[in-house]
Amino acid sequence: MDVASLFRCPQCHKSELALHSKQMICSACSHSLPSRAGYYDFLSATLDKRVATTSEQKLMESELIARVYERFWRPAFVRVMAGKGAEGLTGGFSGEFFIHKNCLSMDEREGPWLDLSCGPGTFTRAMASASPGSWVVGLDIARSMVEVAATRGRGYDNLVFVRGDAHELPLRSGCMSGVNNSGALHVYDDPEAVFSEILRVLMPGGLFVGSTFSPAKSMVGRLMSQVGGIRRFQPAELRAWLSRIGFADYEEVRLGDAFIFRVRKP
Ligand SMILES: C[S@@+](CC[C@H](N)C(=O)[O-])C[C@H]1O[C@@H](n2cnc3c(N)ncnc32)[C@H](O)[C@@H]1O
Repeated sequence: MDVASLFRCPQCHKSELALHSKQMICSACSHSLPSRAGYYDFLSATLDKRVATTSEQKLMESELIARVYERFWRPAFVRVMAGKGAEGLTGGFSGEFFIHKNCLSMDEREGPWLDLSCGPGTFTRAMASASPGSWVVGLDIARSMVEVAATRGRGYDNLVFVRGDAHELPLRSGCMSGVNNSGALHVYDDPEAVFSEILRVLMPGGLFVGSTFSPAKSMVGRLMSQVGGIRRFQPAELRAWLSRIGFADYEEVRLGDAFIFRVRKP
C-alpha cells in the first residue's frame, strides 16, 4: 500500500496523495509535501495555530525536553502524577507496551496503526516491530518531538512520521485499524474534537486505546495537577463521554493514579 494514500491533502483536503521520490503529491491540486528531516509536515501550510497553548506544551516544543523525554522526563513525570503508574507497575516500558499491544489486538489484526501524539516515538517504534507487515504512522504537533522520533525511527521500513494536529487529523476517513494515544489527553485544548477525529479515521471495528491520569490519591499528585494546570479524567465520565461520541465496548485497566482504556468503533 502506498503510505500516501492514508493521508488527505492539507491544501484541498482530498484523499488524492501519492508518493513520488520522497514527496507526497496531490493529484487533485498538485500540492507537494516533501519529506524533511525524515518526516512530513502537514501543518506548515495551515499555520502553526495550535502550537504551545499550555505551559506543558511549551516544554514539549523544546529540543532539550524532546531529547531527554523518553529516558528521564516521562518516567519522572508519570511517577509524580500517578504514583508508580503503568511503567512502574508493569516492570518498565515493555510491560506498559504489552498492555497497549494486547488492547489493540496487534497479534491478531493487521494495521495500519496510528500512534497519536507520539512524542519521541517510543510506542511508535514498538508498534512497528510488533506489526512488521503494516504501516505505523507517528503523529505529533511538536516539531522537536517529530524530529527526534524520525531520527530514532530510522531503519524501520514500515514507519512514517508526520507533524499534524490531533484536532484535525490529516488522515483519510476509515483508514486506521487502531489508534494508540498514550498520555496525551491532558494536553489537548478540546478532547472532544480529538475523540471525534479518532472515530472518523478508524475503520468499522477499529480500536482506540488510550492512557491518561485519574484523580490523584496522593497530595503530591494533587498539587502537581493544580500547579501545572494538568487535567485528570474520571474513568466513569470518560466512559460516558466516549459512548456519547459513538464508541462502544469501553474497558479499562487502572494502574496507580492512571488508567489504560479501550473502545471500539461500531
Ligand atoms: C506527554 S506527551 C506523550 C508522548 C507519548 N505518547 C508518550 O506516551 O510518551 C504528549 C504529546 O502530545 C503532543 N501534542 C500536544 N498537543 C497536540 C496536538 N494538538 N496534536 C498532536 N499532538 C499533540 C505533544 O507535543 C507531546 O509530544
